[in-house]
Amino acid sequence: MKEVILNHPMIKHKISILRNEKTGTKEFRELVSEIAMLLCYEALKDAKTEKVDVTTPMAKTKCERVDENNYAFVPILRAGMGMVDGVLKLMPNAKIGHIGLYRNEETLEPVRYYCKLPENIKKKEVILLDPMLATGGSGSAAITMLKKDGVKKIKFLCVIAAPVGIERIKKDHPDVEIFCAQLDDKLNDIGYIVPGLGDAGDRIYGTK
Ligand code: PRP
Ligand code: URA
Repeated sequence: MKEVILNHPMIKHKISILRNEKTGTKEFRELVSEIAMLLCYEALKDAKTEKVDVTTPMAKTKCERVDENNYAFVPILRAGMGMVDGVLKLMPNAKIGHIGLYRNEETLEPVRYYCKLPENIKKKEVILLDPMLATGGSGSAAITMLKKDGVKKIKFLCVIAAPVGIERIKKDHPDVEIFCAQLDDKLNDIGYIVPGLGDAGDRIYGTK
């Protein structure tokens, strides 16, 4: 599986505003949500459709529909929640699970504190959401949790990734496709993405 980096002028435009330290909470949230919808649009390019009969005001015709019941969105708390509104605009009937992980600030290892997944998750394609893919520890741990519950097909959507995070996911979970809006240069010595956008959770929730 390869990673997909969205290389689109409008994504670059939105990320330029997102990165700016002067961008406030309201605009930051709106942009994360919009970028999430665009990432999801790209990730669902391979969605299977079924034929349905539709009568328009003019004629009977065949159309195609996606069965939303086959999908679940799973945000990694907290920051992943900022992507949920956007992906639901695209697929409003998908089920939603939650995985709670935070990074220990010293070891950078993910600490698990919550997991609630929809019924029959093993039969669904899971779209995992987290705006930041830094060391890849949180993403990898979340994917492991999903696989333990029997999930077979997982796509990981992130807004900004560091090369080391992408490599970690590819090594631990080569079957998972990554959709990333922008690939950054590196991590700094405390595990933050550079140039990045700072702490995504704090910027979405205004906690710092
Ligand atoms: C951030 C981010 C990812 C993780 C990425 O969450 O939202 O989950 O860090 O880092 P990693 O790739 O090195 O694991 P954080 O731990 O700050 O928790 P929060 O979302 O609750 O703020
Ligand atoms: N988590 C964030 O929110 N930002 C980073 O740069 C790295 C991890």
